[in-house]
Amino acid sequence: KSVSQLGDLAGKRVVVRCDFNVPLDGDKNITDDGRIRAALPTLNELRDAGARIVILAHLGRPKGEPDPKFSLAPVAARLGELLGARVKLATDVVGPSAKATVESLGDGEVALLENVRFEAGEKSKDEAARKELAEKYAAFGDFFVSNGFGVVHRKEASVYDIAKLLPSAAGSLVKAEIDVLEGLTENPKRPFVVVLGGAKVADKLAVIDNLLKVADTLVIGGGMAFTFLKAQGLGVGNSLVDDASIEACTGYLKAAEAAGKRILLPVDVRVASEVDFGARTVGQVDVVPTDAIPADKMGLDIGPATEKLFGDAVRQARSVFWNGPMGVFEIPGLESGTRAVAQALTEINGISVVGGGDSASAVRALGFPEDAFGHISTGGGASLELMEGKILPGIAVLKEGN
Ligand code: 3PG
Repeated sequence: KSVSQLGDLAGKRVVVRCDFNVPLDGDKNITDDGRIRAALPTLNELRDAGARIVILAHLGRPKGEPDPKFSLAPVAARLGELLGARVKLATDVVGPSAKATVESLGDGEVALLENVRFEAGEKSKDEAARKELAEKYAAFGDFFVSNGFGVVHRKEASVYDIAKLLPSAAGSLVKAEIDVLEGLTENPKRPFVVVLGGAKVADKLAVIDNLLKVADTLVIGGGMAFTFLKAQGLGVGNSLVDDASIEACTGYLKAAEAAGKRILLPVDVRVASEVDFGARTVGQVDVVPTDAIPADKMGLDIGPATEKLFGDAVRQARSVFWNGPMGVFEIPGLESGTRAVAQALTEINGISVVGGGDSASAVRALGFPEDAFGHISTGGGASLELMEGKILPGIAVLKEGN
């Protein structure tokens, strides 16, 4: 169901799950508000309909109890600016402040309850504990709208259990994300090229497995590429390697060859012997071929020949899904590979999808306009799990209908 199918919402209380898990700097300034902006169409649709809006959201991973470090206060302020309306922030999740705040709402007004992960029941494995909390959320609303695409892979009280208790609909963000991502796995325009990067190869093994079935070419860069290079028998110096994943990588390389699919790996890399990830500085950066990485150096970005190789593969695609930066793009001097891949995505004659998390932040941080891409997902883990072909609890529960 969509929001418009819920019926007349004037004066009705609508509980909306949003994904406002945004990056903050040390002074609690939001460094990328993309997820807040992506929620606006649904929130404005509800305000225009005269609904009283109660938002549930999380920030970070507090341990099931209040923790001021993870307060949603910065989000409430930014959301208010973007909506051009006051957002009433409750100082608890289901306690007296939340109750009074919900009670005080007029038609078209917006409340944000504190971080749902301040409640132990939110992420509990115990279904009864989650249900008890979900009942408290449900008491705040007549309807539930699921609009936090980035959390639909989580079986949590504010995502999953509440949808069983109130008449529910998918917000326009969740709908748009599912349409685009399912379209890619079910019926992609070909050639379909998938670009994977980022540091952790283990997180991407399941998605590689599924994508080898549907994609025509798999392009692998970023930190995870070094495990593949090592699986090919190359020396990778001090680069990041996940030894436990080498066997799986060897298997994928063989499976791809047998299926006539291409897996492209870097042919050259940018290396340095000193890097400070906290201070975001790097020593002297050199370009070396991947079969000659010095033993005392660490690969930190793809090199110029690889930028061309990967960029050409992307440019000839009719659909592209990209998840994960090609290098440590946050450090000046190591953003070139990520920029080159992002640039190639903007040039394709077809659909380009940037899959959430770090890659979405990267394209914004590198100054690309959002409309240069077909779709920028707001889901990191959620978009990857959809590409893995998994059934996501927060989507399944909406499809069951209530
Ligand atoms: C995300 O940032 O991918 C989502 O907000 C989910 O957060 P989580 O991984 O802490 O559940």
